[in-house]
Amino acid sequence: MPLITLQDVSKAYDDNRPLFTGVDLTVTSQDRIGLIGPNGAGKSTLLKMMGGVDTLDSGTRVVRNGLRIGYLEQEPVFDDDITIEDVVREGLSEHHAVQEKLYATYEQLADGRDVSDKIDRLEHQLERLGGHDVEHKISASIHGVGLNDASLICGNLSGGEARRVALAKLLVSSPDIMLLDEPTNHLDAFVIAWLEKQLSQMKVPLVLVTHDRFLLDRVVNKIVEVDRGSIYTYPGNYNEYLLLRSDRIASEEKSESTRLTLLKRETAWMRAGVLGRGTKANARIKRFDALAGAKVLEGDVKLEMEIPRGPRLGSKVIEIENLSFAYPGKRVLDGLDLKIENGMRLGIVGPNGVGKTTLIKLLLGQLEADGGSVTIGETVKFGTLEQNREDLDDEATVMEEIAGTGKYVVVGESKVHIA
Ligand SMILES: Nc1ncnc2c1ncn2[C@@H]1O[C@H](COP(=O)(O)OP(=O)(O)O)[C@@H](O)[C@H]1O
Ligand SMILES: [Mg+2]
Repeated sequence: MPLITLQDVSKAYDDNRPLFTGVDLTVTSQDRIGLIGPNGAGKSTLLKMMGGVDTLDSGTRVVRNGLRIGYLEQEPVFDDDITIEDVVREGLSEHHAVQEKLYATYEQLADGRDVSDKIDRLEHQLERLGGHDVEHKISASIHGVGLNDASLICGNLSGGEARRVALAKLLVSSPDIMLLDEPTNHLDAFVIAWLEKQLSQMKVPLVLVTHDRFLLDRVVNKIVEVDRGSIYTYPGNYNEYLLLRSDRIASEEKSESTRLTLLKRETAWMRAGVLGRGTKANARIKRFDALAGAKVLEGDVKLEMEIPRGPRLGSKVIEIENLSFAYPGKRVLDGLDLKIENGMRLGIVGPNGVGKTTLIKLLLGQLEADGGSVTIGETVKFGTLEQNREDLDDEATVMEEIAGTGKYVVVGESKVHIA
């Protein structure tokens, strides 16, 4: 049964670069779709249009009557001063509303009114939303996503923690269909494994945007690929998709090469001047126009990037001695010793919230330690990529962000012109 249907949908944020043109997509009750494509292809936008969170420029969206859609946005944000439990409880707001209606109707029944049909309907509705007793689901799901203290306020949550809260809220709301936008971003390996299990066990239809091929292989039964304004549907999981996709591209390339061969021949014929313009010649001219005007197949863009050598490092890089740090009420580091030497490439792992980002901030001098010392070698220059990209200017263009207002960027020792 179709749950959500998009028909002939177009969308553009910028009129010169339409994101989608004439896209058709149906999600049925059997579908567990992996939505994939490069960054910026429009996956989040498509998901928002399916969920009714974003508008269509043209085309139609049809949703099955009464369908309850659970949407997990890519970067969830909550009010700073509400608690984790408040947020997760919002997932039950519909449940509470139905329950109240049901109690009121029971009172009407007690007054002798004939409302048994209405009661049946509400009981059925409540059952679909998880039954009478759902309180325990709140704490169970908060625990499930690995959050220990439901009374914490959302203002201090890390990116991974915020996503867990959003997930817990989504799971308690028992939606009829789930739209999940990169749910495993910023999650640690334990929670990813937990989520993967939840998603494979829940038989709810879903559309899942992710770059995690293992998750795709285990959870989905269909792949929808967003590729330069169009979408392509493939039955099966990610492995099966890879095979089918290479067939599609090979066949596109073959028809493009046939088009170019024909175009070459017909161009020569046109240049030679058309003798005797009969109906035949006219048809041939029409065909030439169609060949010449056909959409050119754009190959995947391949970029090359050269990372220049940094300045010479002295022997001393970073020395951490007996470092400790606490946030109010929470000790994060306690007596850490670590020596980072020239040539070392260090991976820092650990569950969400354990203090990985805090350690980086201490090294960069963005936070001040409570005790111990961090010594940075004189020759050290830091390059950083921050987790939530908060240091990007929302108003700046990509060019301005990279090069400022100048016409050059400095790569290693040389200036590169970027007109
Ligand atoms: N609200 C918006 N206003 C203007 N441009 C947007 C907006 N949302 C997304 N875009 C642009 O649309 C394109 C697709 O974005 P998005 O759907 O987020 O892609 P994906 O999720 O596949 O990475 C990007 O170029 C993005 O910059
Ligand atoms: Mg996205």
